[in-house]
Amino acid sequence: MIKFLDLKKQYENIKDEINLAIQNVINDTAFVGGKYLEKFENNFATYCDTKYCIGVGNGTDALQIALWSLDLPKNSEVIVPANSFIATSEAVTLNGLKIVFADCKEDYTICPKSIKSLITKNTSCIIPVHLYGQPCDMQEIMGIAKEYDLKVIEDSAQAHGATYKGQKIGSFGDLATFSFYPGKNLGAYGDGGAIVTNNQELEQKCRMYANHGRSSKFAHEVEGLNSRLDGIQAAILNVKLNYLDLWIKRRNEIANYYLENITNKDIILPTIKSDITHVYHLFVIRVKNRDELKQYLQDNGIQSGIHYPVALPKLEAYNYHTQNCNDFFSCKVDSELLSLPIGEHLENDEIEKVVSFINKYSL
Ligand SMILES: Cc1ncc(COP(=O)(O)O)c(C=O)c1O
Repeated sequence: MIKFLDLKKQYENIKDEINLAIQNVINDTAFVGGKYLEKFENNFATYCDTKYCIGVGNGTDALQIALWSLDLPKNSEVIVPANSFIATSEAVTLNGLKIVFADCKEDYTICPKSIKSLITKNTSCIIPVHLYGQPCDMQEIMGIAKEYDLKVIEDSAQAHGATYKGQKIGSFGDLATFSFYPGKNLGAYGDGGAIVTNNQELEQKCRMYANHGRSSKFAHEVEGLNSRLDGIQAAILNVKLNYLDLWIKRRNEIANYYLENITNKDIILPTIKSDITHVYHLFVIRVKNRDELKQYLQDNGIQSGIHYPVALPKLEAYNYHTQNCNDFFSCKVDSELLSLPIGEHLENDEIEKVVSFINKYSL
């Protein structure tokens, strides 16, 4: 079976370093807070070219806390893409704010024109998602934010290390959030997340909100949450961060192989922007009879995934939502999306097999 993801194989390759890192945390009983967390926060801020990094419990909390730190007017509108994981929109509701869905472009990232058309006097923030590992059109988005005085949080859960016009994603907005869910390009051995920012005031607020609203042990200035990246996860992430660029390079090799060699006319390959570096968290193709192709691949020993089967506005959770998104590209193509296996776990003969079966497939 060609695996979609193989975390066991990844672990086997770095086992000694990971085991030692975990043992060190236990020896030092640095389970919550402490030097391993501090080291990771410093390393990850440096990696993102930002001044600050705050480790938190997961990528969803990261979004919730980042939004909270911005003190946006109650019930104001936050623009999110229609094609994302529900965490992006959930965070908006959890903060007592109103979700406004924007459409995505052919490259599946949020469409700046759609954003602009949705701005009202109540709009307070935009959350672009660097979906599948491809940066959003940050120049246009930051331009719109400046013109209308809006805040920007980059949901970077799928794009650790990607760049837009030579600049690291995560360093454009007021804040950026990351997930270290195990299957992410940089994944922990459990849940984990981070917020990065260049703004010291926002850094202090996020750090406080993530840790019971405290500025020191028993000085709780406000109520907050318990959302912390624990010492073991931080130590594991410190090891894995050293390999991230190598793994991204391999993801790009595989993506380029797919892009050059998948010739089946029924398959729509992903559109890649120029002047960016993609980190290919996912390699998503489009095909009319997606479920049949998925089954055919499975029958031939190839795993695949779907991201996401139902566009956010069409989810049951948003039945209450009155915005009409029926004409959105995102809402029409969700039934056609299929994610092919990608990752440093794949051997060349495996990606050749993927291409060969896809090229042989007919509708
Ligand atoms: C785009 C996006 N945002 C947010 C999240 C939430 O991250 P987590 O699962 O760590 O809460 C995810 C993870 O699945 C994601 O893909």
